[in-house]
Amino acid sequence: MPRCGKRSRPVSNVVLNVEPDPVSTEVLDGIAIVAIANPPVNALSHAVRAGLDTALACIEQDDTIRAVVIYGRDRTFIAGADIREFGKPPQAPLLPDVINRIEACDKPVVAALHGTALGGGLEVAMGAHYRIAVPSARFGLPEVTLGILPGAGGTQRLPRLTGVRVALDLITSGRQVDAEEGLRMGLIDRIAAPTDPVENAEPSAAARAAGLDFARDLIAADARPRRTRDIDLADGSDETSGVFAEFRAKMASKSRGQLAPQNCISAVEGAVNLPFAEGLSNERILFQELMNSDQRGALIHAFFAEREVAKLPEIKGVSARELARLGVIGGGTMGAGIAVAALLAGLDVTLIERDAGAVSRAQASVARILQGSVKRGKLSEGAYNTLMAGSFRASSDYGSLSAADMVIEAVFESMDVKKDVFTRLDAICKPGTVLATNTSYLDINQIAAMTARPEHVIGLHFFSPAHVMRLLEVVVAEKTAPEVTATGFALAKRLKKIAVRAGVCDGFIGNRILSHYRKAVDGAVLAGASPFAVDRALVEFGLAMGPFAVSDLAGLDIGWATRKRLAPTRDPRETYAAFADRLCEAGHFGRKTGMGFYIYDADGTRPNDEVLDHVARDRMAKGMTPREISDQDIVDRYMAAMVNEAARVVEEGIALRPLDVDVTLLNGYGFPRWRGGPMHYADTVGLDKILADIERFAREDDFLWQPAPLLKRLVAEGKTFADLNAA
Ligand code: 3HC
Ligand code: NAI
Repeated sequence: MPRCGKRSRPVSNVVLNVEPDPVSTEVLDGIAIVAIANPPVNALSHAVRAGLDTALACIEQDDTIRAVVIYGRDRTFIAGADIREFGKPPQAPLLPDVINRIEACDKPVVAALHGTALGGGLEVAMGAHYRIAVPSARFGLPEVTLGILPGAGGTQRLPRLTGVRVALDLITSGRQVDAEEGLRMGLIDRIAAPTDPVENAEPSAAARAAGLDFARDLIAADARPRRTRDIDLADGSDETSGVFAEFRAKMASKSRGQLAPQNCISAVEGAVNLPFAEGLSNERILFQELMNSDQRGALIHAFFAEREVAKLPEIKGVSARELARLGVIGGGTMGAGIAVAALLAGLDVTLIERDAGAVSRAQASVARILQGSVKRGKLSEGAYNTLMAGSFRASSDYGSLSAADMVIEAVFESMDVKKDVFTRLDAICKPGTVLATNTSYLDINQIAAMTARPEHVIGLHFFSPAHVMRLLEVVVAEKTAPEVTATGFALAKRLKKIAVRAGVCDGFIGNRILSHYRKAVDGAVLAGASPFAVDRALVEFGLAMGPFAVSDLAGLDIGWATRKRLAPTRDPRETYAAFADRLCEAGHFGRKTGMGFYIYDADGTRPNDEVLDHVARDRMAKGMTPREISDQDIVDRYMAAMVNEAARVVEEGIALRPLDVDVTLLNGYGFPRWRGGPMHYADTVGLDKILADIERFAREDDFLWQPAPLLKRLVAEGKTFADLNAA
């Protein structure tokens, strides 16, 4: 029996259930208002499910209650199941049962939505009989992004509300829709009238009020419960025929290697082909299969790791500096992209170039990128004009940076040029300006030493294209002050990017690891694989692009310049793969010159067979006889090299924890998210297997393949990278 609170008067404003937290019910004019309060995002933890179940049981027994409103306190309705409970033994009541109970209620139930109603939260709303949302509310079923599917009836109820095609789109993409779109697609019934924001008001007050209004209307109209499960879904009809095959093919190519999108489609197919209750059971089976998969573990690791990276002890409680006016030096590939990212985030941007010609080229680049946003409907023409005429200016006069709060330098990758820029900035910028460099590899301590204020100097390493890529490495130099680091993180948040703290070394976290695994794939080519086989095997493994195709895209001249820079200090024991240099010497820099490892022309993209001759000559010069290298061997080399160097990066403190490496590789280097990042992957396959691979490859090249001390120690102690994350 549920413990329902006693009420002295039948229709009064009292709390019904005895334990108010995290679900409480008050009754007002015969309407039970069920509030969920489980900060920060009202996730459906066991206590919330139990609270909802009890509240419904009490409401069912109370004849004086004529309608029900469910809403979420504070910033949002319910953001979904409690992800922290995943992988633990499930505790009753289970969410599908709670939602079935809501749907079965014999009084009309209204879900009043604000913030983000996501996953299990939206499933609760679809179990309610009516849905109203405040104008700013957003909805979605993001489960697929966590490697699962909506497992509390979402795959059965959404197609009944919106039709199969829309449901498949939302469920397989995980995308969010706003209130207008939700209304159009039949997901919600009403959008509440906009209300003036009241200072200090609870953000959920408008949702509660809207829910109450809707419930009063329902009572006045003597409306009955309207259950989503009862909506007829035409089976195998014209509308649905072909749509499942279409989505299967689309997801097989878009989400190559992933289980969840395919199971999502099967679950929705069940909604069409099976009676509701059987469809629910089918959904449950498909859900459990995903719940038990490594992919679910990997994607949830990625979710939490992306939140952990911002939790730095050194900036806890440290305030970021105010950031309104940004200077950008250099308007090439990176400078223009950084300027656009900042403009779109509402910053005022002054871009400095070398001379009038470069100024107008930079101006044109910024305009072109922003026009791209206009074409894609992300920016209005009016907003474009305001940005270009009001918030953005380009000049060759460094003096116009005197009032900047932060300056980001993105000039050529040359220490001399950078030193000159920082000397000028030191002379011009006001005290307190954050002076940042976007260098990919150079020593930021040396750059900082050119100024009288090294504590204000930091690395902000963006990725190309800077207005698109989510990663920002915040490189903390020897003397960087904590508030400058905090300002770097604050900038990332403002630009909607993910910041990872890195220490100073050649290439920081990402590029340092990249140079190492690039050497390993070059080694695989010298040993016998073709660059095309390497790319194919790694794309099959899940990378967005193979490493040789990536080099072509970035420009082969970039790696060539780095190799030349490092040549004087290169260890003579290193096996230096020279085949890429031969391409560069012939003027083939990849995509931008129409030829690199691949040929790019009007006929499309295809392997450049000339490369094989360069490789053959390189092997011959080194006295190497090529042999068969399997796809698995290619993947093993790639992963072992990545993990080995990453272990050094962690041990040296360049990355704080293994999870920082994972977030870097996931967001800046196209590592497959559903594998969780290299360190998570290494834990999954076993660190002993990675170490054994390294020792195996060391028989071929014992200079390249030296096991990292941290890796050896973890294997000896039977520990994992996850243990270090938790420490
Ligand atoms: N469960 C547990 N914790 C959650 C959570 C969830 N569903 N969603 C967010 N959190 C936590 C975060 O880890 C973070 O914790 P921290 O402060 O300790 O780091 C805190 O809530 C705030 O989250 P964000 O930093 O992400 O806050 P934002 O305001 O930027 O974003 C959000 C809020 C849009 C709700 C975002 O957190 C989000 O997308 N959450 C995940 C939503 C989701 O995937 N829901 C589906 C869950 S699976 C499900 O429902 C299965 C069902 O079908 C059976
Ligand atoms: P780029 O060659 O496209 O642009 C550099 C720009 O700087 C040119 O437009 C040049 O005119 C300008 N410039 C040179 N000296 C200047 C000075 N003294 N004052 C003002 N402007 C000056 O180079 P890109 O690719 O944009 O790289 C810039 C920096 O960003 C480099 O340090 C590079 O290592 C780094 N980086 C590059 C990435 C990429 O993918 N291209 C990724 C991340 C970082």
